[in-house]
This record gives sequence, structure tokens and C-alpha cells, in this order.
Amino acid sequence: MVTMPDTPAAPAEGHTVPVTFLREGVTLHAQSGITLRDLALAHGINPHPHVRKLFNCGGIGDCTTCVVRLAAEPAAVNPPTAAEAQWRDRWPADWRLSCQVRVTGPISVETRPRRPRR
Ligand code: FES
Repeated sequence: MVTMPDTPAAPAEGHTVPVTFLREGVTLHAQSGITLRDLALAHGINPHPHVRKLFNCGGIGDCTTCVVRLAAEPAAVNPPTAAEAQWRDRWPADWRLSCQVRVTGPISVETRPRRPRR
């Protein structure tokens, strides 16, 4: 049986990786291991829509308001966590909760993605 961690494991730190926020048109150099949500908020980028910036779970993977679309090699981030597992069959495969994603390699991110039209 495979179990998934409750929180994203922090990889070894010590180097920085470029993280591009596509909607905002900015590339940041992030400390490896930081979550996308923490990185975004530290630089004035809101991963939450509208008032959810104020009313959210605080990064524990419960509210789903911090969802982002990733354009990255799988090795650039940690695998989906247990908190994300319940949403995997409802979202596109490249959507993740930014509070659960730790960056370890170059990555591009779209905040507040829209569902593809059917
Ligand atoms: S901040 Fe609530 S799920 Fe990420």
C-alpha cells in the first residue's frame, strides 16, 4: 500500500530556482523547497481569487482556493500530497494546490487558472 504524506516534504535547501508567474509576467528566484503559495504571497502575488485572499485555510490544503496550473517537469516539484489526492479526478492533471507544491527546479505557474471549455 502506498501512502501519501499529509504535508509536502521539504527537499534539501541551498540553491535557488527560477519560478515564472505567467499571469503576472514576473520571474522570481526562489529558494529551493519553498511552497508556491509562500513564494507568491511574499512577493505580492495573490494565488487566491477575490476575497479568498482573506478567507482561506492558511495553506493546509483544505480550501482549494490556491489552485494553480503548472508548466513544469515532474522533477521540478514534489508529487501530489494527500491533501491534493481527493481533487485529482476533478481537475486537469496539471492543476495543483500552490500551498502543497514545493519547487525544486525551474517552473512556470498560472495562478487562478480557468477550467478548459468542454
Ligand atoms: S491555501 Fe487552502 S488549499 Fe491551499
